[in-house]
Amino acid sequence: MCGIAGCISKHGAVSKILFNALKRLEYRGYDSAGMCTINNGYLQIKKDQGKIDEINARLNFLSLEGNIGIAHTRWATHGAPSQVNAHPHVDCEKKIAVVHNGVLENFLEIKQELEARKHVFLSKTDTEVIPHLIEEYLKLGLSFKDAVREACKKLRGSYAIAVICVEEPDKIVIARNESPLVVGLRDDIKFVASDVAAIIEYTNKVIFLENGDMAVVTPEIVEIMRIDSGVLVERRITELNWTVEMASKGGYLHYFIKEIYEQPHTIKEALRVQEKYLDLLTEFLDRGKEIFLLASGTSYNACIAGSYMFSKLARLTTFPVIASEFIENYGRSISIDTVILAVSQSGETADVLTALDYARYRAATIIAITNVLGSTLTRIARAYVLQNAGPEIGVAASKTFTSQLMVLALLALRLARKRGKISQFEIDDFSDKLNSMPSLVKKVLEISDKPVKELSKEVAKFNSIFFLGRGISYATALEARLKVMELTYIPCIAYPAGESKHGPISVIEDGYPVFFIAPNDETRKHVIGNIMEMKARGAKIYCVGSEDDRELIELSDWYLGLPHVHELLSPVIYVIPFQLLAYYTALEKKLDPDKPRNLAKSVTVL
Ligand code: G6P
Repeated sequence: MCGIAGCISKHGAVSKILFNALKRLEYRGYDSAGMCTINNGYLQIKKDQGKIDEINARLNFLSLEGNIGIAHTRWATHGAPSQVNAHPHVDCEKKIAVVHNGVLENFLEIKQELEARKHVFLSKTDTEVIPHLIEEYLKLGLSFKDAVREACKKLRGSYAIAVICVEEPDKIVIARNESPLVVGLRDDIKFVASDVAAIIEYTNKVIFLENGDMAVVTPEIVEIMRIDSGVLVERRITELNWTVEMASKGGYLHYFIKEIYEQPHTIKEALRVQEKYLDLLTEFLDRGKEIFLLASGTSYNACIAGSYMFSKLARLTTFPVIASEFIENYGRSISIDTVILAVSQSGETADVLTALDYARYRAATIIAITNVLGSTLTRIARAYVLQNAGPEIGVAASKTFTSQLMVLALLALRLARKRGKISQFEIDDFSDKLNSMPSLVKKVLEISDKPVKELSKEVAKFNSIFFLGRGISYATALEARLKVMELTYIPCIAYPAGESKHGPISVIEDGYPVFFIAPNDETRKHVIGNIMEMKARGAKIYCVGSEDDRELIELSDWYLGLPHVHELLSPVIYVIPFQLLAYYTALEKKLDPDKPRNLAKSVTVL
């Protein structure tokens, strides 16, 4: 999730405005940044790896002249953070410059085609194919606008782009598919950006482009058209009364809730992980004699869910293990036959890295899932897959949990296919279910928000809470517990529902709150038994289950029904009401949901 900005003015240089926009966008990603203006018929580019202020101290962005320019802050998805991979990217003749936010699915195909036509690529990014494609169309005699339009028609995946070209220095051409893009309006000066935060200090009059829109932006006018047909369209001008801080939270009060609501998008991006890396990880998993899924915190809960996916889909036994326990528990027995799949959002958690260091010297193979390209984990691992969830600012994980689940499910499916463990029908069915997850998550957000917000008033008064689930829903119970406990400071217990009778049930007394996670899968019939046990001892039953489960609705004191979902994907949607519950209960208790006390986003000590 990079940040892009652009500015075109009738009077004066734009570098100061672009620099300020970059600073406002830094929260979206911060491994590198760059700026490009057109001056005297040439592109002038400054870009490098590092934080914006550091780069500026070295390169002085403000020295760039010209009344048209684009800028970018990068959160790497293809190609590690470096000077060459930083945006803007240019064509062979350095006439076209592009900044891009998103993930292109078919860039390798396009790159190969272009390389066959003698285009030379400098970076490892997916973005670089865009200026070269535009160059091709310009050579065919198309105008700048039409060349961008034709190039966009070839792109598959998500993108918001801003493009400038020395041959038509009077306009910025922008386009979007899935990634957001907004235009800011003022007399004689126009702004473009991936979000309002970048430009709100200059104007509150904005136009949000819709999916499949592109626009030609000059200092005076904004002409919007559809990418596919070229037909001109009108989009409403919105007047915002947001502060810069509100804008960086997308109009939400907190990052945590913004990130919860980003999940339909981030889940889609998780489905766009590159196939060749999935294949590589699948190879290693298939070869291992013993496989550990190693992580901390929320990522560990994702690993528990992953172990159910690997065993049920691919018939592969894996051992989820808490990173800080790994060396003591398994250190002595690991060997060259051990494969460790480390899952870490940040790729910097000290417990994870220490365990991996130990394992590396015993010749274990290390592979990884992470959200941060360029993190230590990506340097240690033999191969890794990125989550593509964009930076997560709320200290407690939300969107990165569900994107980890999606990547784990993709891996399990690949492995199942490779090992010939499931039929083509099952493969197709599971793929369809995976692809339907973004819309399902959207629906669950709509269904859950109101009733959960209402419930939070009651939950804020609880002294302790139980979370129970069976099968893969045990992972959901663990994550539900973690979220609610982290954000509300209410002591919480999570157990596999079947195990609750072996001890924890002694806690139950009249009115004690027990949350059940009970999708309509094979475990449901046993969950009903567990509910009865709890009810018999006076527990108050709160249940999240399937929307049409009459029996569970009858048995519960509070019930939230969710749409049908594949058993192995249920944690992706069943965790959402609990993320919301954690958030709204924290608000009820007047706590800061973005920065729970005593916690850090990335824990780099043992
Ligand atoms: C910290 C964070 C948690 C996170 C855990 C693991 O404790 O507060 O939200 O789940 O670290 O982080 P990782 O980056 O390795 O996934």
